[in-house]
Amino acid sequence: MTSLPFIPQKISFEIHKTKRSRINEIDFNNLPFGRFFSDHMFEMDYQNGQWKRGVVKAYGKLELSPATAALHYGQAIFEGIKANRNQNTGEILVFRPYDNARRFNLSAHRMDMPEIDEEIFVEAIKELIKLDHQWVPTTENSSLYIRPVMFSTDDCVGVRTSENYKFLIMTSPVGPYYSKPIKVVVADKYVRAADGGTGEAKAAGNYGGAMYPTSLAKKRGYDQVLWTDSREHRYLEEIGTMNVFFVIGDEVVTPSLDGTILRGITRDSIIHLLSEKGVTVTERRISIDDLIDAQQKGILFDAFGAGTAATITPIEEIAYKDTLLTIPLGENRKHSIWVKSELEAIKRGIKPDVHNWLVKI
Ligand SMILES: Cc1ncc(COP(=O)(O)O)c(C=O)c1O
Repeated sequence: MTSLPFIPQKISFEIHKTKRSRINEIDFNNLPFGRFFSDHMFEMDYQNGQWKRGVVKAYGKLELSPATAALHYGQAIFEGIKANRNQNTGEILVFRPYDNARRFNLSAHRMDMPEIDEEIFVEAIKELIKLDHQWVPTTENSSLYIRPVMFSTDDCVGVRTSENYKFLIMTSPVGPYYSKPIKVVVADKYVRAADGGTGEAKAAGNYGGAMYPTSLAKKRGYDQVLWTDSREHRYLEEIGTMNVFFVIGDEVVTPSLDGTILRGITRDSIIHLLSEKGVTVTERRISIDDLIDAQQKGILFDAFGAGTAATITPIEEIAYKDTLLTIPLGENRKHSIWVKSELEAIKRGIKPDVHNWLVKI
């Protein structure tokens, strides 16, 4: 690419294009999640109470002090967004990046970190994708995953809110996160998030704390933990990388946003699409006992996870203490099958974007 793309007057970044693209090293027919990174990244530093000018440069290593505050005290937040290519027109479409920018700022607020202008957040993504447009996969079910991250960079081991931060965006061509339906274990000992904690923020520490219980679940042959409330371990919350939905009789149920779970953008999109189709979607507390009861009555028709990386993933087994709920795949899952294909069609520009969810590059 020779000409630099148009950027609105008020936002301009420094651009240093790489001299050597790595794109020929990538097998686009075999894209494990999050392993390969496109040629460029975005970097912007916060110093003396303000964000400096952003820089687009070759993806590469960072030099950090061993005292970098984020490594010690965990002021670190991130986001996950996808860009898809319309297979008919070749157009690149980013799905709901302004919603991610808003959630990023909610996370920043909770973690006492500086917010970022939503326009800068989205312009930086656009700029990166314009430069690395060839990295957006053309194959079905593959996307360019966009990972913004911010962390504290004070060079000081005192426990206090940092004064300096780094904001980065990297992009990664990816295939599907889960290639088959998943099995989950209901948490009955460990906790991901408690009332008043950081569960609603997309904070790195939430994921760090989930690693050990998730490893235990994997050793038992399960893919993920289905987290429960911190007081009684009864109310279902979310999965490590996804929000959850259940279909009980005629009702689609998803746990309400009560501060301990992530405000998923896929979750919100599913609620919109199903409700517009006339399906009853209820956001409420739902306990493991409700699920067991529904299973006994033969009306637990579906369970699925929903997230940017994993899209919509069927849950085929839910283990809780000595009880195993098995939910068959098939026609009983008509709502999730429909909403998955509808959402994919919107994301890829095949169905009209009536909600204004897409940002075109
Ligand atoms: C813990 C958790 N819950 C839910 C989600 C789904 O959120 P979204 O649909 O915005 O990707 C994610 C993924 O980002 C997640 O990590």
